[in-house]
Amino acid sequence: MENKFLIDVNIALDILLDRLDTSPRIYELFQKLKALPTIYLSTSQLHTIAFIFFKEGRKSRPLHILQEEWQLFLKFFTLIKTPAYLDVNDPLFQRDTEDYLIEASAKIVGAKIITRDTAFLRASEYAVSIDDFLSLPVQEEKNIAFLDLKAINEAHASELERAFDGVLHSGWYIQGQQVKAFESEFAAYCGTPFCIGVANGLDALTLTLRAWKEMGRLKEGDKILVPANTYIASILAITENRLIPVLVEPDPATFNISPSEILKFLDSKTKAILPVHLYGQMADMPAIKEIAEKNDLLVLEDAAQAHGAIIGGKKAGSWGDAAGFSFYPGKNLGALGDAGAVTTHDEELALTIRALGNYGSHIKYENLYQGVNSRLDEIQAALLRVKLFHLDKDIEKRQAVARQYMEGINHPEILLPAWKEDASHVFHLFVLRCQRRDALQAYLAEKGIQTLIHYPVAPHKQKAYGAWKGIRLPLTEQIHREVLSLPMGSIICKIDVFEVIKVLNEFN
Ligand SMILES: Cc1ncc(COP(=O)(O)O)c(C=O)c1O
Repeated sequence: MENKFLIDVNIALDILLDRLDTSPRIYELFQKLKALPTIYLSTSQLHTIAFIFFKEGRKSRPLHILQEEWQLFLKFFTLIKTPAYLDVNDPLFQRDTEDYLIEASAKIVGAKIITRDTAFLRASEYAVSIDDFLSLPVQEEKNIAFLDLKAINEAHASELERAFDGVLHSGWYIQGQQVKAFESEFAAYCGTPFCIGVANGLDALTLTLRAWKEMGRLKEGDKILVPANTYIASILAITENRLIPVLVEPDPATFNISPSEILKFLDSKTKAILPVHLYGQMADMPAIKEIAEKNDLLVLEDAAQAHGAIIGGKKAGSWGDAAGFSFYPGKNLGALGDAGAVTTHDEELALTIRALGNYGSHIKYENLYQGVNSRLDEIQAALLRVKLFHLDKDIEKRQAVARQYMEGINHPEILLPAWKEDASHVFHLFVLRCQRRDALQAYLAEKGIQTLIHYPVAPHKQKAYGAWKGIRLPLTEQIHREVLSLPMGSIICKIDVFEVIKVLNEFN
């Protein structure tokens, strides 16, 4: 059966008030519950549980102890909101509204309700008794997911719900206070004076290049140096603007564009460099900036995978003339849908991008450019503000997982990523290399460990760029054949990481 359970008021109180007389198996139950990845409480129950707990508890212990116990108890649970969509015709609603609300919360996450209320047990197919729960073979969570997005967002469920409610009831959904606040918070976080919210990461890059064209800094046919082994979006932004991408081989240790390779490609038509901080590791920005300054080149960072990464004391997004960020849900700073942003020090660029993303308009109904509609919306901005607040803590957790992998993985066929113990890598992905990559991936899958490949086909080998079929990029092609991304994230637990390490080291 599914490992999802919510507890009824009576069970919560049995635990809180040590009611062994009414629930002799309550400790056993709580131990089994605590071993599950998530346990739930419905917000509809909270006031009742709190009221009875404090009233009864005061008979035996002082208030400050009760307060501590209450906070400790809540830490075990994910709170599930009581939905506003009620079905007054539901028989359970008519029989017992309180039970109906608990069931409604449980249905949101697909949880069973543990209760010792016999009427509830009879009335709801979601309800299970203590004895039934204890006798259930609760399925061991054997599979290790590559990324458990649901769990990542559930960790902030209450704050996200509050943010969502704020927008829902504001009546303002596009270009309002949430976007403004997020833009200024994210700009401050990155260390730039300007941030412009857009619809996604691809638009962040495309609109920046387009803005430079409108500003006369670039023109059709100009060359842009870009890593050959990037996600295709970096290159799509260039070709969409009728600029010429020049594919540069990476440094195989870091997977990032190599400054010495950049030097080989400079000519009079080269006008910009688009370094990508791939997998969360900053490209060598001090060297890239130096080359750009000497050769009068623009620098557009593709920081889609590197929110919060730092090199030379400066964050991703603050090194280039501009930077594009993606807040795709799986990113380190992920929205609950598509979203993106540009950061920059250049006010004229910021204004141009903002206009281009708003139908080409600075002022309503005045159109300077043939623009597009690419705006960050209020809901995503409000949710991103919550996630931004937790980003640094999440990055530390990712770095701790990476450290564990680096220390534990020891296999002659596996090449680990190069990582200086510093803040320059935020481990959006933990990517190793192995010549027998496909066999390794199949072996891990058989052991219940999910991995992904970033990316299986290099951009110059894609049908979309059929004209580049003849280009040979041996390092890039080798990387695409050998890379494998291990489970990574801010909520993956140490035991799971140990399991991945153990299984990897036994690969033969
Ligand atoms: C390196 C890189 N650049 C650009 C993008 C595009 O971002 P989005 O998916 O938000 O358009 C992504 C994300 O997928 C990416 O990984």
